Amino acid sequence: MTDEASRGPEGSLSADDLGADPLRTCARWLEDAYARSNLVFPNAVSLSTVDDDGWPEGRIVLVKSIDDRGLTFFTNYRSRKAKALDASGRAAITFYWPDLNRQMRVRGPVGKVSAEESDRYFATRPRGSQIGAWASRQSEPLETREALEARCRELETRYASAEIPRPPHWGGYRLTPIEVEFWQGRDDRLHDRFLFRRRDLIRGEGWSLERLNP
Ligand SMILES: Cc1cc2nc3c(=O)[nH]c(=O)nc-3n(C[C@H](O)[C@H](O)[C@H](O)COP(=O)(O)O)c2cc1C
Repeated sequence: MTDEASRGPEGSLSADDLGADPLRTCARWLEDAYARSNLVFPNAVSLSTVDDDGWPEGRIVLVKSIDDRGLTFFTNYRSRKAKALDASGRAAITFYWPDLNRQMRVRGPVGKVSAEESDRYFATRPRGSQIGAWASRQSEPLETREALEARCRELETRYASAEIPRPPHWGGYRLTPIEVEFWQGRDDRLHDRFLFRRRDLIRGEGWSLERLNP
């Protein structure tokens, strides 16, 4: 790879590039990735949780929106991740866009979005995904593939000519960032890193910003 290619199109990052509101920049970096990255899912992230015994665990989910309230993703509320999220109330999300040479890390408290918000998003899902959300007892043992497919067929019959409602065990979580780190890869491992920390989570006022060693 040439230096130019390894540096990526952005090249460098300064505090001025990032502005004062890391959530806005977070949203902008995701938009950039949609516009310029060749990834199939630019919104795929590693979602990290910690269980009751302090064991960390990660898995990929899709971040569906980023706004002033935080980062939202959807899942099964009885899944392994949901148990960890509900018990600890905390999570971390990591984006990586190889072709932009960028990483973005976010940590903070996490909670369920409103039922109405989950309903609205569920209604936009393709029918097959809606059936799947009912059929899959996510993270629980499954005897055979056929058992899952049979559940899907039953559900297709049950909802043959009807709208499929959102399962009560499926919906969104929103992570409210207290830390956001922007990483821009540069030559010789001398990458640019900036860490925003929320000053006061209760009142939500302002962010500190510091440059970190790569
Ligand atoms: C590209 C990709 C996108 C995924 N998106 C989601 C998602 O948005 N929600 C979800 O629950 N699982 C998603 N998964 C599956 C999860 O990685 C994981 O296998 C599943 O949620 C069960 O995790 P858990 O047992 O830790 O709860 C995705 C997997 C991949 C590879």
